[in-house]
Amino acid sequence: MIMEIFEPAVLGNLQLSNRLIRSATFEGMSDANGIPGDDYIKLYSQLAQGKPGAIITGVTYISPEGKVMHPGQAGLESEEKIPYFRKMTDAVHKYPVKIFIQLSHSGRQTRMSSTGFPVKGVSGKKSAYFNEIPEVLSTNEIEKIIEQFSDSAFYSKQSGFDGIQLLASHGYLIHQFLHPFINDRNDIYGIDPELGLGTLFLNNIIDRIRERCGDDYPILIKISGGDDYKKSFSEEMFLKLIKFLDSKKVSGVEISYGTMDHALNIFRCSRIPIDTILEYNPMYRIKNRVLRGLWKLLIYPFASGSVIRFTPVYNLRYAETAKKHTSIPIISVGGFRTGVEIRDALSRGQADFISLCRPFIIEPDFPEKLRENPYYRSLCINCSRCAIMVDTEYPTQCLEKGEGEKK
Ligand SMILES: Cc1cc2nc3c(=O)[nH]c(=O)nc-3n(C[C@H](O)[C@H](O)[C@H](O)COP(=O)(O)O)c2cc1C
Repeated sequence: MIMEIFEPAVLGNLQLSNRLIRSATFEGMSDANGIPGDDYIKLYSQLAQGKPGAIITGVTYISPEGKVMHPGQAGLESEEKIPYFRKMTDAVHKYPVKIFIQLSHSGRQTRMSSTGFPVKGVSGKKSAYFNEIPEVLSTNEIEKIIEQFSDSAFYSKQSGFDGIQLLASHGYLIHQFLHPFINDRNDIYGIDPELGLGTLFLNNIIDRIRERCGDDYPILIKISGGDDYKKSFSEEMFLKLIKFLDSKKVSGVEISYGTMDHALNIFRCSRIPIDTILEYNPMYRIKNRVLRGLWKLLIYPFASGSVIRFTPVYNLRYAETAKKHTSIPIISVGGFRTGVEIRDALSRGQADFISLCRPFIIEPDFPEKLRENPYYRSLCINCSRCAIMVDTEYPTQCLEKGEGEKK
C-alpha cells in the first residue's frame, strides 16, 4: 500500500485527515504561572486553519520543578488551568485537526535561576550545557513525578486534547532515565540489566496515565535515535527502545535526535547563527563587542567543530529502521522541507507520518500550500535563529520575517 500525504490515516485510535503533523514547538506565550495567553490560542487557531493532520504543542511542564529554562513556558499541573487550555483545543477543533499536548519534566536540563527549585536529575551527572550538578532524585520523588505526569495527562484529557506526547527525547528527564550513560542508579529505576536501558520510569508513567485516562487515551512518545556524547546511544540501544515501545503498544513514536548538550544538532542549521547566540543565549552571551570579536576569532573555530550542518530529512534513517521492527506508526521529524521529500518518504514506506517544526514557524499554512502545489518548498532557510530566540523574552517567531513584540 502506497501512503499518500493527503489521505486519512490512523494514529493510535484516531483518524487523522492527512499524514502531516506540526511537531512540538516551544511557544513562549504563557505567563509566569504557565497560563497560556491569547497569543497561544491565536497561534494554534492559525495552525489549525492550515489543516495539518495533527498538531503537537510545545513542551509543557507537569510541575513547576520540571520547567525548562526558557521564559514563557506553558504548564498543566493543576485543575484550575483546564479552562485556559480548553479555549485552545476548542479553537483547534473547529477544523478537522487533532491536537496533542507535549508533557515533560526537564530533570537536569534546566537552571535553578529559571525554575526557583534545585535542579534534580536521574543521577549526579551534570549536563555540560546547563552546568549545574543535579541532586539525585530519590525513589519517592520519582514516584511523585510519575503521579504528576498522570495528573497532567488527566487534566489534558479534560482540557480537550485528543492525546498527549511524552517528551522522551532531547535529553529531558525521561530520556535521562533511558540513557545508560546518564542513568547510574542502583535502585529499581536504574538500567534494566537485560534491556540495557532505564525503561521503568517511562513504563510506569505510561501505565499510570492509562489507569487515570483509560487505555484508549492516545499516548505518543518522542525519542532521540542517537546523540553526540562520547559514549552515545547506539543503534542496538535504539532498537531495544523501539521493541520496548512496541511492547507498550503506544499510539505512535516520533523520532528525533540528540540532547540539549548539543542543541544545534537537534535542529541543524544551514549556518551557525553565531551573532544571535552571542547576543541572546544566556550561556554564551557576550555584551562587550571587543570580547565578542575575540571569542569569534579564537574560540568559535573549536567550539563549532562538533556542530552538524543541515541536510534534508536528516533523521529519516532512524524512522526507516524502526519501521522494520514495529507496526506502531512511526513519525519522522527533522529536515523535511519539500513536497517531494515528504511524498518520497511516505511512498517508500520509510515513515507513516511526517512532522515539521520550522516550516510551520515561517508559514503556519504550510499544509495548505502543499495541498495546492505538490512541489511546494518551505520558505524556511534553516537559519535556526527561531531556536536561539527561545531563550529570550520574545515568543517563538521567524526572524526572517522580522522581530515581533516582547512577551
Ligand atoms: C524554535 C523551536 C522550538 C522547538 N521546541 C520544541 C519543543 O517544545 N519540544 C520538542 O520536542 N522539540 C522542539 N523543537 C524541535 C522540533 O520539534 C524538531 O524536532 C526539530 O526542529 C527538527 O524539525 P524541523 O527540521 O522540521 O525544524 C523545537 C525546535 C525549534 C526550532
